[in-house]
Parts: sequence; C-alpha cells; structure tokens
Amino acid sequence: MFDGLPRERFAFLPTPMHRLKNLGESIGVNQLWIKRDDLTGISFGGNKTRKLEFVVGDAKANKCDTLVTVGGVQSNHCRQTAAVAAVTSMRCILLLGGEEPEEYTGNLLLDRMLGAEMKFFPDESVFTLNKRLDGIMETLIDFGLTPYAIPAGAAMPVGVVPYAVAMDELNSQFKEKNFYPDRIILAVGTGGTLAGLILGAHMLELDVDIIGVTVAKPADEVKEEVKDLIERTVQLYPEIEAFKPNITVDDNFIGKGYAQLDDGVVSAIEMFARMEGIFLDPVYTGKGGLALIRMALAGNIASDSPTLFYHTGGEPALFTYSELGQK
Ligand SMILES: Cc1ncc(COP(=O)(O)O)c(C=O)c1O
Repeated sequence: MFDGLPRERFAFLPTPMHRLKNLGESIGVNQLWIKRDDLTGISFGGNKTRKLEFVVGDAKANKCDTLVTVGGVQSNHCRQTAAVAAVTSMRCILLLGGEEPEEYTGNLLLDRMLGAEMKFFPDESVFTLNKRLDGIMETLIDFGLTPYAIPAGAAMPVGVVPYAVAMDELNSQFKEKNFYPDRIILAVGTGGTLAGLILGAHMLELDVDIIGVTVAKPADEVKEEVKDLIERTVQLYPEIEAFKPNITVDDNFIGKGYAQLDDGVVSAIEMFARMEGIFLDPVYTGKGGLALIRMALAGNIASDSPTLFYHTGGEPALFTYSELGQK
C-alpha cells in the first residue's frame, strides 16, 4: 500500500499486537488486545514517528533541510519531530505555544537533548500558532532556510497515509494471531491517526468499528476535521477510490479539558500499569483507556466481542505529573 511514496525508515515496525489478559478479565472483555505504537522506536516512540516516515520522505523529496512544526510545550509530536530530524540530519525548529518554563521536564527536556531549536510563544496556543504557520514559513525562507512546514500533529494528507499503512500492518497481524476485532478504540487529537485507520480499513474492505475518543475538542468538530483530512488525502492520491467515510468520535471523556487529569484518567492509567505493566499517558491514551474501561463496565462491549485498544504513545508527559501513583 502506497509503496511508491517517498519514505524514510526509522520506526521499529511492525509494532507488537498482544493480548491484555489481566485487564480483559477484570473488565469482562475476554478478547482484549492492544496495538503498541508506543513502541515505534526512537525517542520513546508514539504515533507521530509512523507519520513522520512519510512526512520526512516528502520533505527530502522537496529538497528541504529544516523541519518546522508547532505544538504545546509538552508536545509528543514535537519531541518525535526533533528525534527524526536528528536521525535524518535535518535541522529542527519547534514553535511552542506557551511560556518557557523555568525547569525543562518531560518532552521539553527531550527536545532540548535532541538538539531542536525552540521558540516559545507565551501569548499563543497551538491552534493560533498552527494558523500562522504559513506566515512564519515565509519569514524563515526570507532568512535563507529551505524549511518544510508540518502542521500540529502532522495532520496533513502525507501524515494520514501512514495510518492507512498501519491498518495494513494490523490486518496482517489479525490473520497471523487469528484475532479479528469488532472495534478499535484510540485517542484522538488532530484526527490524522483516526483518518488514516478509517482510510486503511476502507481500502482493505475491513469490517471493524473504529472509535475515536477525542481528548479536547467536541465530537462534531473533530468529525469535520477527520472528514476534511480524508477528502484531501483521497484527492491527492489517485490510488484511493472516493468514499463516504463512517466517522465515530466520542467526546464523553474530555473531563476537565485538554491535558487535565481527573480521577477517571488516573484510575485508567493505574489499571493498565498495575495489571499489565503498560504505561498510558495522561493527555491522550489515559482518556482512550478510560473510554475502553467505562464502555466495557457499562456493558457496551459484549464479553465475547473482540476489542483492540490502540496505544499511541505519549509516556514522557507522565514525568510532568508527579501526583500520579500516590494512592
Ligand atoms: C500520545 C498521543 N496519542 C494520540 C494523539 C492523537 O493523534 P492525532 O493527532 O493523530 O489525532 C497524539 C497527538 O499528539 C499523541 O501525542
């Protein structure tokens, strides 16, 4: 799938897919499995590493030498961009919405260690910065750089394709392990991962519900963004037949808001850790994990209905939440 596209290979693929026996038994889902994109490799991994293989391929094909992207101060996407820039000998400029903290921790500490150049915008959010990215690129070009712009979360067609390819990877693992899930549950931010999985399932004609759990924005807004990403991707790559995507987004787990911990998220993180030795992150997969647990406990997942939880990474942010694990 998409074999002809420029791609740099730095992720450790395929990532494992394995059963969560203890957690499954505890929440009454016999066949509960997990896909481990927290193990995509370099710099603690995560879903953006997979996306960046194609993004950096495109950047190099366009003869760019500098990756420029935007994110919050604790962005996982920025950390992975800094890491792939390091391994592909590119310069990396991170535009971070928020104040520069006195102490560098979590992802930000890693960004600095990876050699990224960071510019803080105390009065801006990732959303406002994202909108200004084109203007900032013009300034960088005026300075004589050959930059490549990556919007927040690599939410762009070339960042959607890798998750269609990931669905192909999963499809091979389903056959190999004889595990065919009725549903896949994942956390959603900018929507590119969800868009790619939906696209891949369509291209492979797979019958599986893909449930996105939004961590910040209302479901309708996310659905529009995912629809737009799929349409733009279909337009760009003639090998995909146009289709009307079925997009499911659940906004019941936003809780107190983006990156805000609540008791539910804390207990989801602790259940995964204490039953499976797996760390979820506080911002994304903690909410996805909470959704899975609540759906199962509410009886919305039948005990014999095979279910896959998609881990998208993000663990370095754990080190900025010292209140975790105290109970
Ligand atoms: C750990 C983690 N999971 C999920 C997501 C959401 O992915 P997407 O932006 O493709 O929806 C992100 C985005 O930054 C992330 O860092």
